[in-house]
Amino acid sequence: ERGLRVADRGFLNTAVIESAITYIDGERGILRYRGYPIEQLAEKSTFLECAYLLIYGALPARSQLSHFEREVLLHGIMHADATKFFGSFRYDAHPMAMLTSAFAYLGSYYGEANPSLQGQTLFTKCAKGDPEALQNMDKQIYRLIGKAITLAAMAYRVRQGREFVVPPTGMSYAESFLYQLDHLSPTDSFSASSSASPSPSPYKPHPVLARALDILFILHADHEMNASSTTVLQTGSSLPDPYSAVAAGCASLYGPLHGGANEAVIRMLVSIGSPNNVPTFLAAVKRREKVLSGFGHRVYKTSDPRSFIIRKIADEVFAVTGPDPLLDTAMALHDAALKDDYFVSRKLAPNVDFWSGLIYRAMGFPMDFFPVLFVVPRIVGWVAHWRQMMLSPEGVKIWRPRQIYVGPSERSYVPFDERE
Ligand code: SDX
Repeated sequence: ERGLRVADRGFLNTAVIESAITYIDGERGILRYRGYPIEQLAEKSTFLECAYLLIYGALPARSQLSHFEREVLLHGIMHADATKFFGSFRYDAHPMAMLTSAFAYLGSYYGEANPSLQGQTLFTKCAKGDPEALQNMDKQIYRLIGKAITLAAMAYRVRQGREFVVPPTGMSYAESFLYQLDHLSPTDSFSASSSASPSPSPYKPHPVLARALDILFILHADHEMNASSTTVLQTGSSLPDPYSAVAAGCASLYGPLHGGANEAVIRMLVSIGSPNNVPTFLAAVKRREKVLSGFGHRVYKTSDPRSFIIRKIADEVFAVTGPDPLLDTAMALHDAALKDDYFVSRKLAPNVDFWSGLIYRAMGFPMDFFPVLFVVPRIVGWVAHWRQMMLSPEGVKIWRPRQIYVGPSERSYVPFDERE
């Protein structure tokens, strides 16, 4: 029939795949990775252990985890040619644009150069359980997760004209990332030795900040069929190399309605300025002149369980870095919106992005780097869904949705001189 029902626009009411990876109950505010509640994983697990769980479906034995950690961190070693690649961007290029391009660049390096990595070959061999192909797929996964922090660190340092550094072994994923971001610049608040020692001492990420980042990575690792994961599978379904599919996911996460929301929240709080201006801002939102970034969710119609955990992490980080001056405005906005019928009637509550930007700001990250801190952990969810699709017993079918055509019916071509 003519006219798509609003209830179906933008996949609003469409299940595109069966998945065993992540479960969300939007009515009860439940999030589980392979059946494990997010609250337990945030408290007891580490990011790379959750990565293993999401990708392979089970909590790893100690030996499996240490092999996975070693492979991921080994593949994260800086990419010599990428130094030239990152140097080619303008001094003020947005790091998300750099990262999106960087994953496509990796595809040109690892995808094309070795046709067996191309989806068709990789997929057909993996589907037959070919051990070499499955090992190959694992290597692509290690490389994508390992390189995520190296490429992100490159996007951060190239704009400061700072050399890239290779992290020492024996660090956690988050510590290795903080090391690559911040090495030999003891002034930043990332390092434990920042104000303590005037001369650059061997860099040691602050334990509270490193653990906070590790938990934030756990919380951002996967979220079933969100826009960027859907983009990765949509792209991956035509069987390109996995790097190109991840580059597409990166582009989708960049938008302020998705991963760009944590940057949009800070811009919103800065524009509000102080708690006294919150009522005026909310009035503008109700007139639909502004959007309350960090609130609302396509699936959660009660609260986003991640926002409660992030709120707690914020207090732990502020205890080290000092509270963010925007915190009072954020609390006033949060409390006012939760009591306001306009938002309550639309079931709008804080989502994962409302508090995370304040933490990243307190940790000294530049605002346009915040979405990068969403991409890095979400690569795990993307590769977990990509692997699940590539190994699906019924094989990979290209994703090609239909539409409702509402354009003109048939008509004949009109020559120029007969056109009005
Ligand atoms: C993430 O999908 C995922 O899982 C994403 C994510 C993940 O982990 O991958 O959870 C991460 O992207 C979280 C969301 C971050 N985005 C933002 O914070 C941007 C602000 N939020 C909105 O843009 C919006 O809430 C969305 C995009 C998140 C959801 O939009 P929907 O599901 O399409 O909801 P909708 O636009 O149909 O809204 C329903 C009503 C509308 O009002 P009415 O037309 O019915 O009167 O609620 C209103 C909307 O106008 N509304 C908002 C609002 N969000 C929805 N009004 C003001 N401020 C908002 N934030």
